[in-house]
Amino acid sequence: MATREWWRSAVVYQIYPRSWMDGSGDGIGDLPGITSKLDYLQWLGIDAIWLSPIFPSPMKDFGYDVSDYVDIHPIFGTLADFDALLIAAHARGIKVLLDLVPNHTSDQHAWFKESRASRDNPKRDWYIWRDAKPDGSPPNNWAAYFGGSAWTWDETTQQYYMHNFLAEQPDLNYRNPEVLQAMLNEVRFWLDRGVDGFRVDVIDRMLKDDEFRDNPMNPNFQEGVDNPMFSQMRIYSENRPGIHGLIAEFRKVFDSYANRVMIGEIGYSVDPTLIAGFYVENDQHLIHLPFNFALILLPWNAKAIRDFIARYESVLPPNAQPNYVMGNHDMPRIASRLGAEQARVAAMMMLTLRGTPFIYYGEELGMENGDLTPEQYQDPQGINMGVSRDYERTPFQWSAEANAGFSSAVPWLPTAPNYPTVNVENEKRDPYSMLNLYRALLIERRMLPALTEGSLTLIDSPADTLVYRRDHDGQALLIALNFSRQPVTIPLTISGAGEVLINTQLDKTGAIDLSALQLRANEGMMIKLG
Ligand code: GLC
Repeated sequence: MATREWWRSAVVYQIYPRSWMDGSGDGIGDLPGITSKLDYLQWLGIDAIWLSPIFPSPMKDFGYDVSDYVDIHPIFGTLADFDALLIAAHARGIKVLLDLVPNHTSDQHAWFKESRASRDNPKRDWYIWRDAKPDGSPPNNWAAYFGGSAWTWDETTQQYYMHNFLAEQPDLNYRNPEVLQAMLNEVRFWLDRGVDGFRVDVIDRMLKDDEFRDNPMNPNFQEGVDNPMFSQMRIYSENRPGIHGLIAEFRKVFDSYANRVMIGEIGYSVDPTLIAGFYVENDQHLIHLPFNFALILLPWNAKAIRDFIARYESVLPPNAQPNYVMGNHDMPRIASRLGAEQARVAAMMMLTLRGTPFIYYGEELGMENGDLTPEQYQDPQGINMGVSRDYERTPFQWSAEANAGFSSAVPWLPTAPNYPTVNVENEKRDPYSMLNLYRALLIERRMLPALTEGSLTLIDSPADTLVYRRDHDGQALLIALNFSRQPVTIPLTISGAGEVLINTQLDKTGAIDLSALQLRANEGMMIKLG
């Protein structure tokens, strides 16, 4: 048997570098800031960090518009700072994952500057250029995610270029093999340098329809209610036939190095078959961990979540590693979606289900959405579409000091108002805090192979509860979660003794009667069986 890959037992912590720790005192987080706080992460007990983009960028989409894939934005530091971070993280047993944005570049990237210089430039075909329709309008109806058409007119060369996001983020043309080779070289640069893998941005969008057909409108879209982003069904502008083959080319590069992981952001979906399809196709390896965002999208309802888990587990290909994501830099904070009490239940669930969990920075404190006026929006999605992601990007809350201990200067986004109480220093001291709950769960994960390697069995239970077992090599755990604000009794048919290892309130351990398991309102328990 080959040894088990590290990322199967890992917990990944996502850092949004602008907002985590400012070492330079300019109000924006940076790499030396991260390095200075690695002890905190080691204390917390995570296994890997994923950094949102740190590369040179005009920052139109805060780094998801890359103008050079093989350098560091001066705001974040230098390549030497990156190497220092990598060494310091590795010394603490923490892996480092970067964020690859292969679908599009910045319009300031040298490749695009060449491409737009003239129609006969050798890099013209590296991007997606099309003629206008006879009436001068864009080649088709594709909408950009951040508002308006997905096509922008270029006066100089008299053609439109395509962009899924901002006009400043032109999409690359992966039907041109040179583009793929160029991007793979950028990936090798970082893998050679020692990074442990990449989270790959919008990986399913890299291929567009070869005939550029119009997207149908979404019949369920409610104007004024739904995010305008969802007005179209993007069946022709993303996830096209051939995408798996393209992803497999990326994967081959990862596989040519030892112990690297490829995580892929695929479209937000609650359809487990769609997620399952991104692991492997006809013996061709695709993504190690295609993101599963179902726990963000589904209503916070025990039955809906149970049904999803059952379907997800049943459709995964053999040996595929599940994963669960509940928060990231694009989605509102968990505590703001579910409330502080249920956020604790969510934490226990995330860290005890079968799979690789992803924790977005600050969720371990129970951070809430920031408080911003529209005038303070910096995120283009907020400015153009009214749905700002700045709320979930506010500075990490280290302490009750000025600027939450994040920076000596005024931060680029305002600190959330609750930072004087919700912060690392306070929560370290409070034995019942969310931070201590995360830490206790992470310690259990390290000690109990049932959590990282065990099978998962869902167990029937009353409405508003979710109960499952994790079993490995004679070790058996029962996790029981109460999604409601009422106490509940769960009749179990499990015989023998039970011992509470940890509950979400952090106030109960020890022997428990399993015949009628009592959970208080908003309570979750992890129980050792036998
Ligand atoms: C992904 C990123 C998001 C970014 C977009 C365009 O969805 O998570 O933050 O704006 O891609 O790169």
